[in-house]
Amino acid sequence: MTGNGLYGPYYDAMTHIMTYMTEQIEAYGKAYEAEKGEKLYEHLEYRIKSEDSMTEKLDRQNLEKTAYNALRVITDSIGIRIVCLFIDDVYENIRRIKSLPRCRVILEKDYIQQAKPNGYRSYHMILDVETEEADAEGNTPGHYYAEIQLRTIAMDTWAALEHELKYKKKIANQELIIQELRRCANELAACDVSMQTLKRIIREGE
Ligand code: GTP
Ligand code: MG
Repeated sequence: MTGNGLYGPYYDAMTHIMTYMTEQIEAYGKAYEAEKGEKLYEHLEYRIKSEDSMTEKLDRQNLEKTAYNALRVITDSIGIRIVCLFIDDVYENIRRIKSLPRCRVILEKDYIQQAKPNGYRSYHMILDVETEEADAEGNTPGHYYAEIQLRTIAMDTWAALEHELKYKKKIANQELIIQELRRCANELAACDVSMQTLKRIIREGE
């Protein structure tokens, strides 16, 4: 992959940053588990946006297909998703991510407090991560964006199903499905709150 395609010579730095981030997250996760005996997150997913999806996104936004646009205008070429058991864990992960070395928060969107109209819930952060390697603006040390999505398993389940349906264009009863999906999102959100309460009650009894 190195040197070719849309990401050009920056692809290596992107993978190094993704590895750096996931290792940092895994490290605080392990430390938390060793101390508290429970997981701070259930699992971690990560990806470099494929050049095909990046090209499609650049097209959609009428941007020229350059590494600069892919890496310094579009902010989700590096994506990490942290899936948690409980809502509280999402916010604890956010606190820890904010204190990671070499990372600066550029943008936060709390779609948990304020769900999207379709019912989508997650916490999104755009980070600016510093690296010794050069970036697409020609700076060394370089800066790369990474998008972190944090959500519960319930939110993740909903998003996976909704994503699947969104790309199946020819669905009968679109309106009904959208309405039902929103209802499911709200029911799952209510379950998340109940589970959080159950967790607290169980803790208090220990
Ligand atoms: P893009 O949607 O990536 O162009 O960026 P944006 O500026 O709209 O950012 P936003 O924070 O709304 O969404 C970023 C990412 O969150 C998306 O690429 C998806 O991975 C996820 N996401 C946002 N909204 C939805 C949604 O309604 N359903 C699902 N399944 N995922 C969503
Ligand atoms: Mg969007």
